[in-house]
Amino acid sequence: MGDILAEIYPWVKSLHIISVIAWMAGMFYLPRLYVYHADAEIGSDKSETFKIMERRLLRGIINPAMIMTFLFGGLLLLTPGIVHWADLWIWLKLALVFLMAGFHGYLSKWRKEFAADENTRPAKFYRMVNEIPTVLVIGIVILVVVKPF
Ligand code: HEM
Repeated sequence: MGDILAEIYPWVKSLHIISVIAWMAGMFYLPRLYVYHADAEIGSDKSETFKIMERRLLRGIINPAMIMTFLFGGLLLLTPGIVHWADLWIWLKLALVFLMAGFHGYLSKWRKEFAADENTRPAKFYRMVNEIPTVLVIGIVILVVVKPF
């Protein structure tokens, strides 16, 4: 198993990065939809259209992309010689990834509230939380590329 993983490592890492790009594209875009949806009148065509866009983005892109990111990331963890568990970068990276997955969970919970016309948060709230994945991505990418410690 280790030999095969070592051989296909560049392919697995490519698929990992492609999955990460798709996941992050959705994680940046969905809160932006919530910003405009929060100002849309309940029952209006605009609000109903946002519901469709949010559901398709979450189920069609964000959820599968997260699963693929974890799958290929997990294969990279199992590839001999790639991760040394005495290094701090991989623990910090996984901690930030855990926070990213937590934010994903909130985005999913808020989508259900919008779908049920039960959102009570203002657009300003979603504009602020939209920065969370950006900050996490900066930390994750620096940790995994620079491996500072
Ligand atoms: C459970 C989720 C994840 C796991 C287990 C994981 C694990 C890994 C591992 C082991 C590597 C290989 C490091 C190397 O080749 O030296 C890697 C590469 C990478 N990961 Fe992840 N990762 C995960 C999620 C993410 C996320 C969420 C991002 C970005 C937001 C990310 C960005 C990257 C990048 C950019 C690389 C390539 C680094 C390079 O080429 O030097 N990963 N990941």
